[in-house]
Amino acid sequence: MDKITFLDKTFVKYISEKEIEEATERVAKQINEDYKNDQPILLVTLNGAIVFAVELMKKLTMPCRISCVKLSSYSGTSSTNQVKELVGLNEDLTGQRVLIIEDIVDTGVTYEHMHKMLMDAHAKDVRMATMAFKPDAYKKDLPVHYVALPIPNKFVIGHGLDYDGWGRNLTDIYQVTE
Ligand code: IMP
Repeated sequence: MDKITFLDKTFVKYISEKEIEEATERVAKQINEDYKNDQPILLVTLNGAIVFAVELMKKLTMPCRISCVKLSSYSGTSSTNQVKELVGLNEDLTGQRVLIIEDIVDTGVTYEHMHKMLMDAHAKDVRMATMAFKPDAYKKDLPVHYVALPIPNKFVIGHGLDYDGWGRNLTDIYQVTE
């Protein structure tokens, strides 16, 4: 399927499952190297990151634990610049290394919010691993440590990413048409 429509928008195939898999493998190798002497907590952001998180986790070799949070900052195809905490933290993160697993980092509003939340929870160290990153949309100073796919500033769906709830189960990534 090269083209798909949800609600008022049409999307075209943009990144194949195979390319995503290869990019995930690259990121996993780097994380395995960087955390080889550590036991991080992987903090998965629901709902979008579930697909990437499962694929990434299976490639990680260090002992690690997994926790989830649910945040929301997007409405339709644009950021609201406000982050709603729908399911918050329920772990003691004191002194822990936390690796956030995201579907996409766009403006960075969500990432900055999470970073503050984790530092307030006394995490030792916080890093970001994301499937997609839009460098041209990013407005924050925090480093985005592990990026599988840098992409242009255009709305995408698939492989966990949604348009108002639709498209998460697509195996490839699709880009919106104008
Ligand atoms: P940020 O706070 O602007 O960095 O946006 C992060 C969140 O916005 C992501 O976790 C997604 O839920 C959503 N988002 C940003 N860009 C896209 C996109 O192109 N497609 C689908 N969701 C997106």
